[in-house]
Amino acid sequence: MPINSYIYRKSMKILKSTAISHPNIAFIKYWGNRDHDLRLPVNGSFSMNLEGLTTKTQVIFREDLSKDKLVLNEEEASGAGLARVSQILDEVREMAGLKIYAEVISENNFPTGAGIASSAAAFAALALAASKAAELELDEAALSVLARHGSGSASRSIPGGFVEWQVGDDDKSSYAFSIAPAEHWELADCVAVVSTGHKETGSTQGHPLAVTSPLQTARVADAPRRIEICRKAILERDFETFASVAEEDSDIMHAVMMTSKPALFYWQPATLRVMQAVRDWRAEGLPVFYTIDAGPNVHVITLKEKMDEVKAKLVGLEGVKDVLTASVGGAAKLLED
Ligand code: DP6
Repeated sequence: MPINSYIYRKSMKILKSTAISHPNIAFIKYWGNRDHDLRLPVNGSFSMNLEGLTTKTQVIFREDLSKDKLVLNEEEASGAGLARVSQILDEVREMAGLKIYAEVISENNFPTGAGIASSAAAFAALALAASKAAELELDEAALSVLARHGSGSASRSIPGGFVEWQVGDDDKSSYAFSIAPAEHWELADCVAVVSTGHKETGSTQGHPLAVTSPLQTARVADAPRRIEICRKAILERDFETFASVAEEDSDIMHAVMMTSKPALFYWQPATLRVMQAVRDWRAEGLPVFYTIDAGPNVHVITLKEKMDEVKAKLVGLEGVKDVLTASVGGAAKLLED
């Protein structure tokens, strides 16, 4: 190796970092923004992180790039996906006074189309890895805000365990924090996959439609009540109350979706079959409830000790193609490069 190149390598700092994070499932849903660009929500929300489902993202700022580069599950991405990532990188560059582009390499260990929001884990890992690579020292709230700018629900994948995203008064105060660590309550999410097809209208396109439903005003006005009940139920490990408020919240969000213009109907016959079965099992004494995001697949929440039993029951239902399981996950974290 020529001596000059050796000196160059020794003096040049390598601005790179790798982070992992988990997707989350919301019990009190985020649906609708008061500021779409900043992703400032109209109501606060609650979730738990999903252990075992992981996104790993490496960010390398490189002098030799003429634009940002995104490699997603081993395939180079462009268009809207890359633009959304670049927006977060721009914010990081601005804060750090950096003027070079970055390569972002990201991988999920869970299938896309399984009804698990990959954008939450993706933007949480990106916010952490990019800010660290740029040598910024952001606290948890600032990281949550940065992740939120990429995807609202990503704000909730920064802290660990059971997480509340407060609605806030402005950009800086709308962030998520943990109300209890993952060990607080041994719960599990059994995701009943009824369709792996690409959803017609994703969350980003759905949020602006929320306001077109006459039910959204009532949903938002009642959100503080549901949040209070949910917080208390989680802290007290009161499964019955938790089940009832989470199902109510999911149903209210879907009522808004179904009455938006254009209407968003995510449920399929098999979705309803799972919902009905879950209600029946609960009536028989099994601790279970359902919650559904912007798609037809059903997240069935139970105690971890009942996970295998619930999974076996779900697998036996007509129309259920697969069941993925996860327990409660920790915070987004950095990996040693
Ligand atoms: C139904 O966070 O995916 O899953 O900010 O546009 O990325 P963007 O939306 P996103 O919306 C999540 C909607 C939801 C409910 C929830 O997770 O709270």
